[in-house]
Amino acid sequence: MKNSFIIKGDICYSEGPNHLVTHTDGYVVCVDGISKGIYTDVPHAYQDLEVMDCTGQVIMPGLVDLHVHAPQYHFRGLGMDLELLDWLNTYTFPHEARYSDEAYARADYTHFVEELAKSATTRAVIFATLHVPGTIILMDYLEQTGLITYVGKVNMDRNGIPELEEQDAETSAKATVDWLEAIAGKYENTLPIITPRFIPSCTDELMDKLSKIRRDYDLPVQSHLSENPSEVAWVKDLVPSSRCYGDAYAMFDLFGNDAKTVMAHCVWSDAEEQALIKDRGVFIAHCPDSNTNLASGIAPLRQFLSDGQKIGLGSDVAGGSCLNMFQHMVEAIQSSKLRWRLVDDTLSPIGVEEAIYLATLGGGEFFGQVGSFKDGYEFDAIVIDDEEFRTDDLSLHQRVERIVYCADASHLTHKFVKGKQLF
Ligand code: GUN
Ligand code: FE
Repeated sequence: MKNSFIIKGDICYSEGPNHLVTHTDGYVVCVDGISKGIYTDVPHAYQDLEVMDCTGQVIMPGLVDLHVHAPQYHFRGLGMDLELLDWLNTYTFPHEARYSDEAYARADYTHFVEELAKSATTRAVIFATLHVPGTIILMDYLEQTGLITYVGKVNMDRNGIPELEEQDAETSAKATVDWLEAIAGKYENTLPIITPRFIPSCTDELMDKLSKIRRDYDLPVQSHLSENPSEVAWVKDLVPSSRCYGDAYAMFDLFGNDAKTVMAHCVWSDAEEQALIKDRGVFIAHCPDSNTNLASGIAPLRQFLSDGQKIGLGSDVAGGSCLNMFQHMVEAIQSSKLRWRLVDDTLSPIGVEEAIYLATLGGGEFFGQVGSFKDGYEFDAIVIDDEEFRTDDLSLHQRVERIVYCADASHLTHKFVKGKQLF
């Protein structure tokens, strides 16, 4: 059967936020792209499957990047001297304007997609730009990699810059429908997602039209929420009838419930907004690297986890400076420690088990049964050669802990998405 095999090695995966399974010298079985669980010996029923021998290497689920901006990869690690709104106007909007040029989009997205394909990420939720041809170029390239992604053509009909703003709600909505019609049936693994940039970028009229398009095409939604204090204050002025920032999306049915939704940041979400997120089943993309770089703040990660919010991690490149999701796990742990020490000592820091959960099972849920080797989960896996870090007689748990802190794409030997081997 296609995409059916067994991998032998040192296996690690999450069964829940505080439940990390480690199994030395085991077998993980994949049948038709679906995990059949892990075993000490090859079960009789699977005797005929090919065994890939990765003895001594670590096998774990592929990592999920719940929030990343493809066009911003170009200026990652630059321009961290400003807060969000000035950063957007000074660096981000002028750069994204360049993707009106298809030749530029081709060259630049080639680089982004190559780097994402090499990384530990198997699934990602991605912002493109407002440009339809550029967004389709990005989707074409992603489809060739075997990664499974959601990609959004960005909508913005106010508060941009002349070179990066759609003329009006009608123009923006029509471009969105043109995009959806152009890609209908074109891809297996590259899926469209409705992408109002954030409330300051979208008029009520546009939000209303996007809501209708979302319903007509039955699509999920991604956007930004309560990232920065000045942004939150601005949204209050822009949408005075909203009870909170999240409500400015909910008013248009673009905030969970039937609309599967992921909101990046939620640093400044108050109790009312957090309750709205929870009630509507909105996913939070926690982006600690970005939140530090843009001095946005420290999200109450422990609160989100103990409230049972749906939550994963986002690189938010170029707010975040790299695609390496291991690094974003570390940032999640570190920033939770700073929040505990400096802001609120009732919210304990997260540990490495929870960080792995966030980057696999937590974010994976946005894609369905994804992010674990539990029986029935879609088989996304990375195989890591940690020889370089194996100094003493470490337990598998310790090896995994060190991988989280020290590994990057250079340590990967294999990568699988839904049972398909990418390398
Ligand atoms: N809010 C609106 N647009 C953006 C963006 O491109 N990056 C981040 N971090 N926040 C945003
Ligand atoms: Fe973002």
